[in-house]
Amino acid sequence: MRARQCRSAVLILTLLLSSAPLFAQGAPLVNAGVEARVDALLGQMTLAEKIGQLNQFSGGGPTGPGTGRTGYGEMVAAGQIGSIFNVTGAKQTNGLQRIAMTQSRLKIPLIFGLDVIHGYRTTFPVPLALASSWDPSLVENAAAAAAREASAEGIRWTFSPMVDIARDARWGRTTEGAGEDPYLGAAMAAAYVRGYQGTRLDDPSSIAACAKHFVGYGAVEGGRDYNTTEIPDRLLRNVYLPPFYAAVRAGSATVMSAFNPLNEVPATANAFTLQQILKREWGFRGFVVSDWTAIKELMAQGIANDGASAARKALLAGVDMDMESGLYLNELTAQVNSGAVPMAAIDDSVRRILRIKFALGLFEHPYVAESDTPNRLDPVHMELARTAAEESIILLKNGDSRPSLPLAGGTRSVALIGPLADDARNMLGSWAGRGNPADVVTLRAALSDYAAKHNWRLSVEKGVEIIGGSDAGIAAAVDAARHADVVLLAVGENAPDMSGEAASRSRLGLPGLQERLVEAVTATGKPTVLIVFSGRPLVLTPLADKVSAIVQAWFPGIQAGPALVRLLTGEANFSARSTVSFPRAVGQEPLYYSQLNTGRPAGKVDLTHPPTNGNEKYVSRYIDETNSPLFAFGYGLSYSKFEFGPPSVSVTTISARALNAGGQTLRVSAEIRNTSSRDGVEVVQLYIRLRGTSVARPVRELKGFQRVALGAGESRHVEFTLGREELRFWNIDMKDIVEPAALTVWIASDSQSGQSTDVQITE
Ligand code: NOJ
Repeated sequence: MRARQCRSAVLILTLLLSSAPLFAQGAPLVNAGVEARVDALLGQMTLAEKIGQLNQFSGGGPTGPGTGRTGYGEMVAAGQIGSIFNVTGAKQTNGLQRIAMTQSRLKIPLIFGLDVIHGYRTTFPVPLALASSWDPSLVENAAAAAAREASAEGIRWTFSPMVDIARDARWGRTTEGAGEDPYLGAAMAAAYVRGYQGTRLDDPSSIAACAKHFVGYGAVEGGRDYNTTEIPDRLLRNVYLPPFYAAVRAGSATVMSAFNPLNEVPATANAFTLQQILKREWGFRGFVVSDWTAIKELMAQGIANDGASAARKALLAGVDMDMESGLYLNELTAQVNSGAVPMAAIDDSVRRILRIKFALGLFEHPYVAESDTPNRLDPVHMELARTAAEESIILLKNGDSRPSLPLAGGTRSVALIGPLADDARNMLGSWAGRGNPADVVTLRAALSDYAAKHNWRLSVEKGVEIIGGSDAGIAAAVDAARHADVVLLAVGENAPDMSGEAASRSRLGLPGLQERLVEAVTATGKPTVLIVFSGRPLVLTPLADKVSAIVQAWFPGIQAGPALVRLLTGEANFSARSTVSFPRAVGQEPLYYSQLNTGRPAGKVDLTHPPTNGNEKYVSRYIDETNSPLFAFGYGLSYSKFEFGPPSVSVTTISARALNAGGQTLRVSAEIRNTSSRDGVEVVQLYIRLRGTSVARPVRELKGFQRVALGAGESRHVEFTLGREELRFWNIDMKDIVEPAALTVWIASDSQSGQSTDVQITE
């Protein structure tokens, strides 16, 4: 006993003295004693018990391809399972945990996981919407609220944030991430991790984050889910990896490997990305979980001809936990016994999993309180959900010559039309956790309240279904429009079927008969506000010209109605900005602002008609569509009007050497004025372009943003700092450095506008 204590003390001391952080540059989430406890426990484990920790199964009933079983009690007692997911409710998690803590030999607690993606019981707007707030603190608060609710039911691990860069709106999972930009994506990734994990992972209300899907999943060819990705290493490091790096630096306890083959090596057996980049270069010390049955899928993907090779390849590549395929459980013992898999590899994975279990304090607090009123809606979280929706909903168009919103003032008679006007389920978006449609306040419900209080006449017509159905309801909708002063047209996608996983679309218009509904209603000539509920930017041409205003609501969560009514009536102001480019036509995809310039940029060529001469033709363009998005990255309107002064810089030359050495920075600032009589928030965006570098850099890159609240008539000097962090990139020699370059800097209200100034980065 004394010898053991002594050994632990030495280990603790070694750890305290060692300079290696437990998470690469991350928050100090794990106390030093954890490593000693991990080692002590590992020393007692049999091979079977070690392999047991590497398995995760879904206990909530099969929702996709998997084992098909739902009962795991015996396996838990036998120490064959490290984690269970899709089980909710304190009674249920406690029940399984009790088996692990009382019947298994080593009493290693289970870690319960779940897709808590944008809220647990309190459903917030979908992640793409939350990102549109450009407000990392809001995201952090929403994630912290979700963590409190989930942890109360014993769930201490969420499969979130999804930090995949999404540049192709056909991909259904666009809804789950922060959009197309690595800088914004990194800011959001870190915010989620901070929110879920708090300042201490062992706080019982913290949950472990899982940055997913590592890596490149958003680049699936043709936007088709699970498809191949080809991403050159430099692009991978400059664009797809930064949000993951940010999550890891923020301390993300886990990472999920992706389904997609990446450069011909499936991401779930990709030693380059998992072992080399994540674990060695970044020093990630948490664990990697595979995606659902992804280890088994290595066979279909063509790099394993049997389960044994699939298990071996995934483990050796760095996947520590097998989600749902059962191959680690069934195959690894023989692989270790034959010498094909070294024990050290097993130990490393087990160590990582135990580290997180200790870090979460699961050994001390394996159970949660079983209250009689589990997870009642928390009014503070509901208020946060409303604020989040208000900050996430984008005003894309507001009148042609004069604004059509806000509705207040003389509006007395409103026709609310469309299949999403009163649809509670769809407000929750995909991955709704324990979100309950009964908690949702729909637009119809909130507007009815408002109408009753303000003596508005409100008529409601569904018109058509979201998908399918007949056009029989269009006539009544048109009639309602004719008798109203203004029409609110609530249209869009069906959240669970058309957005999220396995929901890629080859057409991006409004589904079903909805476009016909819009045409018929707008033909009445009544001012029409199009309110679009979707998980991706839809193709809104040519409808955009027919309506007087467009509100992009995404899937706004349980407070959809109140938030929308406050925005539409002007009680609240719009401040959201798009984090994705809205295509004019599907054929423009993948579409993103941060493109490389071509040798033949279209420049000033008029792209609105087919080329009529060689000058118009031999440029990088489509002959039948303009290049630009309908609404650009960073774009969004407000009831306020903001004016940007010219940017000024603290120095006009700065040396790359000094920047690379760190410390040296350059300040860029501009005067932003609210020229309107309405208080508002402007999202001030900083973009750069580097020219003359060893590899081509994008025409613009976001490198800073601030939400700036400005009272009516108020102006503010807004300043950004550019240093190594913002100016570096992976260059021709695959070095991550700042190079000498001509630097252009914009301070702008979106990715297509703004005034610029130049700076020389010298040797
Ligand atoms: C598959 C999805 O790709 C992943 O994002 C999710 O976390 C897992 N299933 C678990 O549900």
